[in-house]
Amino acid sequence: MAAPPPRIIAIYPGSFDPITNGHLDVIARGSRLAEKLIVAVLGNQAKQPFFRIQERVEMIQEAVHPYSNVEVDAFDGLLVDYASHRGANLILRGIRAVSDYEMELQMALMNRRLNPRLETVFLLASEEASFISSHLVREVASLGGDVSGLVPAAVAMRLKKRLAAKSV
Ligand code: PNS
Repeated sequence: MAAPPPRIIAIYPGSFDPITNGHLDVIARGSRLAEKLIVAVLGNQAKQPFFRIQERVEMIQEAVHPYSNVEVDAFDGLLVDYASHRGANLILRGIRAVSDYEMELQMALMNRRLNPRLETVFLLASEEASFISSHLVREVASLGGDVSGLVPAAVAMRLKKRLAAKSV
């Protein structure tokens, strides 16, 4: 008799600077595919982030409150090492457009080379979220544009506060 399929412990890694409704769409759908989904926020970025790691984690924690099997954590170093440390067997990523594909392919193949037992699974972004990126959200907000509907309300508020503090 074939062995039962393994339980899915998934990691959804990213910068989440800040979390958008596009990320939340992947989290909502990913939470239905996995027994546990760990949203893992990268701490040691080369470039200076807009929000500190603790703030990014807090914003995600607030947003994922409705999902009982979703956990939020920060990580540094190699994703495959963090995944092993957490006992995860799947990496979850979202793809919006063909332009995302090249980088995602490179990362997935590199991660597979580093740990062939760790599978990467992609979810296609929902139509209404396929144009949203953290980068554009920061840009629009910093130029005074309306980002409601693109990020959770609490995130829009934090963006506003942070930008107001920066302009003083
Ligand atoms: O939201 P992002 O910036 O597209 O997320 C990129 C992320 C965090 C998934 C990626 O940079 C990553 O996994 N970094 C950890 C370092 C690592 O493992 N690098 C080698 C394999 S790609």
